[in-house]
Amino acid sequence: MEMLRTPKPADPLDAVVAGVALVEDDPTDHSVGLGGLPNEDGVVELDASCMHGPMGRAGAVAGLRNVKNAASVARMVLRRTDHVLIVGEGALRFAKAHGFKEENLLTDEAREMWLWWKEHLSETDKWLAAPDADYPENVRIWAQTTGTIHCSALDANGDICATTTTSGLAFKLPGRAGDSPIIGAGNYVDNDVGSCGSTGRGEELILNAGSFAVVEQMRHGAAPKDACFAILKRIVANALKTPRLRAPDGRPNFDVKLYALNKAGDHAGVSMFSGAKYAVHDGTEAKLVDCEFLYEAKKV
Ligand code: GLY
Repeated sequence: MEMLRTPKPADPLDAVVAGVALVEDDPTDHSVGLGGLPNEDGVVELDASCMHGPMGRAGAVAGLRNVKNAASVARMVLRRTDHVLIVGEGALRFAKAHGFKEENLLTDEAREMWLWWKEHLSETDKWLAAPDADYPENVRIWAQTTGTIHCSALDANGDICATTTTSGLAFKLPGRAGDSPIIGAGNYVDNDVGSCGSTGRGEELILNAGSFAVVEQMRHGAAPKDACFAILKRIVANALKTPRLRAPDGRPNFDVKLYALNKAGDHAGVSMFSGAKYAVHDGTEAKLVDCEFLYEAKKV
């Protein structure tokens, strides 16, 4: 937020990229950057995108290895190439050409989570589980989750920029890209309308062009909350045609969250299940706000 304040406000894209870098740099967070959960081979592969409203341009990387600040590399793609999306080996070579440092992103804690997953995947392979006592509770819990960060900023001029960054679905197939690096799926900005970003099961967000669809709803007059609800319901209706995405109670067995911001500064977060929050700074204070939701979460 400090970066957006007068008298010398930064470009809102620099503000959102700096914001998510705080978490990308944190080895104790397992959703993005350093310490992110790896693919099925135990290698961390990052996805990120950014979009600059006033320029109407975007940059993105997918399957980026060994460089923790994927959102910064995505910004470099936007600013220093004629492309929008660079993947895999090419993304790493591009990042190194611009001075990003290579490092092993797999922390010991994330490696333990991956090992726990491998050792509990099958009774018939050669990976033997350690006694449960060897794995702390947080390892077992984290090993079954995934995470992503979306950050949008609206500055005093009414300009909007946004970024989405992630280590993607935990234990994914190597090379799998989610929604975060796909412009229109996990991130979208139209400077005349607003922005949207998403977290959760990227496949459904790609299939429904989720973030673009929310911004289009807002373009036609919907408030951020109503726009997110309309698209989340569409995502659910489409996903439930696939039996393996249905829980026994008929609800989706996956999570999706949509976060939208409009030109007037109205915002909303809408989650598949109750209990989620998102962080907002309105220029005077930072706060956590409850997400709206489609389904009451079941008590466990
Ligand atoms: N939404 C993050 C992912 O599916 O990779």
